[in-house]
Amino acid sequence: MIVILGAMDSEISSFLSVMDNAKILHWNGFDHHQGTIEGRAVLVSKSGVGKVMAAMMTQHLIDAYHPLAVLFTGLAGSLQPHIAIGDTLIASDLVQHDMEASGIGFPRGQIPFSDWRFLPADPRLLHLASEFVPYQGKLHLGRICTGDQFISHREMASHAYLADELAGDGVEMEGASVAQVCAINDVPCLVARTISDKADGSAGVNFEEFLPLASHNSLDLVRYMLPQL
Ligand code: ADE
Repeated sequence: MIVILGAMDSEISSFLSVMDNAKILHWNGFDHHQGTIEGRAVLVSKSGVGKVMAAMMTQHLIDAYHPLAVLFTGLAGSLQPHIAIGDTLIASDLVQHDMEASGIGFPRGQIPFSDWRFLPADPRLLHLASEFVPYQGKLHLGRICTGDQFISHREMASHAYLADELAGDGVEMEGASVAQVCAINDVPCLVARTISDKADGSAGVNFEEFLPLASHNSLDLVRYMLPQL
């Protein structure tokens, strides 16, 4: 089975609309939707927003269902001028941008007293996704920065590190924690995001507007990948 996650209901609704043989399982207030898409066994669930919710849900689903792979889709803010609203950003690697322990000698993003900093995507999943052609916008492979903050004022010096020090291409709130849990459990993982905003003063408005496009785009990508997994 393949686990498909999104942070919010609106980021998983498109998957549910095309699922066959759907069955709902309840877990601690969350609905897990088990069924098939493109003939492949899948489990689709909302994780909730942020690193804790995403990590918790990923670990639970790995323990309970032993998936062959975890795919996480949704929205991200762009950190680079050439990555436009509506484009698709596939994470080639991910980092927790709000992990900051420079005071005890670790570079931003590194989990202290470990080697974990930049978490690579599964090479096979990344290769497959890199051949996807979105119906709108361009496809980019790049670095996703994850943290428990919605970035809406990147022009402020306090967030310059996202594009400078971390060389990030996109920013969101779950990906690196999902990748971290998958890496520890040795489960292949891919995070794919539709760009909803430029992580600037308009980010909040653009985010709401782009939810429908994002879910359509995510469904296209997952439908393209599933038969090849
Ligand atoms: N997801 C989409 N846009 C985002 C932003 N600007 N900051 C954090 N997460 C996001």
